[in-house]
Amino acid sequence: MMRSHTCGELRGSDDGARVLLAGWVNRVRNMGGFCFLDLRDRHGMTQVVFEPENAELLEAAGRLHMESVIRIQGVVRRRPGAMTNAELPTGEVEVVATELELLSRAEVLPFTLEVEDTASEDLRLKYRYLDLRRPVKARYLHLRHRMAQAVRRTLDNLGFLEVETPVLMKSTPEGARDYLVPSRIHPGSFYALPQSPQTYKQLLMVAGFDRYFQIVKCFRDEDLRSDRQPEFTQIDIELSFGDEGDVQGVAEAVMAALFHDVKGEELSLPLPRMTWREAMDRYGVDKPDLRVPVEIQRLDHRAAGSAFSVFEQAAASGGVLRALVFKGLAAEFSRKKIDALQDYTRHLGGQGVVAVRWTEEGINSPIHKFTGEEWMEATLVEAGASQGDLVILAAGDFRLVCKLLGNIRLRVAREHGLVQTERHRLLWVTDFPMFEYDEEEDRWAAAHHPFTQPNREQFEAGVSPAELLSRGYDLVMDGQEIAGGSVRIHERDMQAKVFTMLGISDEEAREKFGFLLDAFRYGTPPHAGCAFGFDRLVMIFGETENIRDVIAFPKTNRAASPMDGCPGPVDERQLTELHLSIRGARPESGPA
Ligand code: AMO
Repeated sequence: MMRSHTCGELRGSDDGARVLLAGWVNRVRNMGGFCFLDLRDRHGMTQVVFEPENAELLEAAGRLHMESVIRIQGVVRRRPGAMTNAELPTGEVEVVATELELLSRAEVLPFTLEVEDTASEDLRLKYRYLDLRRPVKARYLHLRHRMAQAVRRTLDNLGFLEVETPVLMKSTPEGARDYLVPSRIHPGSFYALPQSPQTYKQLLMVAGFDRYFQIVKCFRDEDLRSDRQPEFTQIDIELSFGDEGDVQGVAEAVMAALFHDVKGEELSLPLPRMTWREAMDRYGVDKPDLRVPVEIQRLDHRAAGSAFSVFEQAAASGGVLRALVFKGLAAEFSRKKIDALQDYTRHLGGQGVVAVRWTEEGINSPIHKFTGEEWMEATLVEAGASQGDLVILAAGDFRLVCKLLGNIRLRVAREHGLVQTERHRLLWVTDFPMFEYDEEEDRWAAAHHPFTQPNREQFEAGVSPAELLSRGYDLVMDGQEIAGGSVRIHERDMQAKVFTMLGISDEEAREKFGFLLDAFRYGTPPHAGCAFGFDRLVMIFGETENIRDVIAFPKTNRAASPMDGCPGPVDERQLTELHLSIRGARPESGPA
């Protein structure tokens, strides 16, 4: 037996027990002829004492290098009252060492584990296995494990079958760039790594596995941000003979289990639902953070009579006039702060917004000279403003105004502590537009993916692509999209029409999704599903803004791993076998 207990296990009731402990040397202190050693493993920390009576052992302990792996034998002793450490679960006891064995001597580490975050993130990623020894970092993986178990248990109880789908597959339709894998056996051909198991889970429905789930790696070669990784994990769910209500019910059960298991809180169900249009109107985004108690105000009808050309033009071209009212913030917004806000707005792509400060001295705005006092005051009052408030007005195209005000709402809320963080706020956003216009390619693109069912009534009435809504839905938590899904098309005719609307030709549809369309010919149940971004969920529950914290071996923002140096060059023989040659100079080594 290597160890009798972990380093987080011993309690006062173990007083007098002979134990074997193994772990890493966290710290050694010599005090008054004694040597105190904190022994650490992932379960916790235990204080080991070397006493002067055993001089040889004491000396050996003093020679130990930090982070070496040792094993000790000893006797548990209750610490005298004053010496109890209330912050450690094992703080009531110490182990008096009778034997010490060095299992592996550690060299000096590239950074110290004791002090929080003094080393750069790149260095910590290079030595990720050392960073993970720190309890503050290890706790995210413990949390992730617990959450994964809660998800599995819940879905199993609801009759879902866990099925593994291929990693080497044909290109998927999620809309990001694929990671490709060259085939040796089929010269010039490539597998794609799944952006999601979307097509497979639909095929599983055709196969009759009416309730499927998988906790699964997905791969997307897209620009990375703090909440995106090139490989990430989804909780992927699909069910047959059900609609959006059924899928949402299952997803809510998963969330309720997570709240219960992780936070010990009961989530109140059903979660609120809001249409995409309402979310955009009230919050300017399709993933509203309901923790910010500020809503966009609609003043569209006031634009035409404003006598201010920008607002008038907006009215004439079918645009909108909207406002944000920040209660009591007028005094805090100096000229400099307003300029910074304007810079930020321009960086978002707008011509700017109008900032109005209503102070004791009156209403202060750069457009008074056009609108006159009366229009301005009546407009502010209609927006719900009063003396002391800062009001931001924006006019123009609906989507642009939403983008500007949606972002300003969040930015000002964060800067001025308006985010009410006491409780998480979840909601479903539904009735998304079916298509988005792709300006670059000058055609309609699927807002979700091309298998999402359009609103049936609208579809049958022949509503235009610009107006058509989908049966897609997103689950939003604290302003983050944590899951997305839809009711799928299961009729070939409807699918063919949607492909036509997307400008996908018959040949292209056959080439890309022929296997799925073929499958639909042989008896397809109505089906629907969704997928959670599991990493994002763990981030929210773990209260970190950095997705790398919740992944054991994450990639950098440049999609590289400084630890193993991937991606890296391969030798000429491998390239030849794969029928590949590299254009231009070959890299010497990976991105260390
Ligand atoms: P979607 O593309 O919305 O849907 O993805 C589902 C969820 O996955 C998370 N996510 C990511 N997390 C980390 N890094 C990324 N690069 C990343 N990309 C997405 C998000 C998102 O809500 N097949 C459909 C689901 C369905 O229709 O059933 C799909 O993949 O939290």
